[in-house]
Amino acid sequence: MSARDAAPRVVVTGATGAVGRHVTRALARRGPVRSLVRDASKARRLELPGETVVGDYRDGPALKRALAGAEAVFVVTANPLRPQDDAQILDAARAAGVRKAVKLSWLAVADPSANDLIARWNRQSEQMLHTSGLAWTVLRMRTPMSNTLSWASSIREESVVRALDGNARTACVDPRDVAEAAVRALTEAGHEGVTYALTGPEPIGAREQTEILARVVGRPLAFEELTAEQALARWSARLPGAVAEALLEAAQRRRAGDSCEVGDDLGRLIGRPPGTFASWAADHAAAFS
Ligand SMILES: NC(=O)c1ccc[n+]([C@@H]2O[C@H](COP(=O)([O-])OP(=O)(O)OC[C@H]3O[C@@H](n4cnc5c(N)ncnc54)[C@H](OP(=O)(O)O)[C@@H]3O)[C@@H](O)[C@H]2O)c1
Repeated sequence: MSARDAAPRVVVTGATGAVGRHVTRALARRGPVRSLVRDASKARRLELPGETVVGDYRDGPALKRALAGAEAVFVVTANPLRPQDDAQILDAARAAGVRKAVKLSWLAVADPSANDLIARWNRQSEQMLHTSGLAWTVLRMRTPMSNTLSWASSIREESVVRALDGNARTACVDPRDVAEAAVRALTEAGHEGVTYALTGPEPIGAREQTEILARVVGRPLAFEELTAEQALARWSARLPGAVAEALLEAAQRRRAGDSCEVGDDLGRLIGRPPGTFASWAADHAAAFS
């Protein structure tokens, strides 16, 4: 038996992330899967199935071990100040004989007016993928619904949601649907050289999301709108300043209505209508209650 016969067909990077965890779980239901994680305890907490290789994207030997014998890799990077991460994953994949890479990106890349650091970095990462020599698919995602989990502690402890621009809508998407699309792109033929725009079924704002979450937890929730300065201060407390500034630029575009468009790529890929925020929230009630 060759190394390839024994290895999982697909390797998942970013397997502890919002989409990657669901990709790993879905692949494990179909057969063996291997994940690269930098935090083994987080992988255990999430009960990630399959084989786990522990390592950072800067750790060449770990990347080599993770990718050995695989045919396809799910590429997720998260640091706009480290464009090398994508190059390192793709170089290691090519060296390991991996044939296909499916990359999680951001739908703002499609907007020519989006020129913030995060959009530029995702554009550059997509470009690296195009020239990687691997068969590629790009999944450009709109905001994942799971971002609202950052409200969970203030909902639980103070019955309040604090967010910027309560009325700015975005066609946010269930990360489980994005994961289902990723599994199709990773395991089926016919997606090579294609860029998909993945949105949820309707644009929705933070105030409406708060009302839905209030129904889910069964009590009223207040909505307190943050000023741009307050939002920037919160982001700057946990992110590099340049990334916090980029998030503010993205919020300005969202306020202008640029994130409302609902596409049909996701429904076509997964063969059913994408899930609503109400159904995502109901499934995650425990986190908010
Ligand atoms: N979040 C959004 O609102 C959003 C919206 C649309 C598109 N996107 C795009 O989606 C992609 C993922 O972004 P995200 O921030 O949302 O991801 P995420 O869900 O936070 O997942 C990132 C994953 O990558 C892992 N990771 C990050 N740096 C690593 C490193 N140096 N070595 C090994 N693993 C590493 C993380 O591990 P840990 O769990 O240990 O941190 C995590 O598993 C980006 O291209 C982003 O632009 C994001």
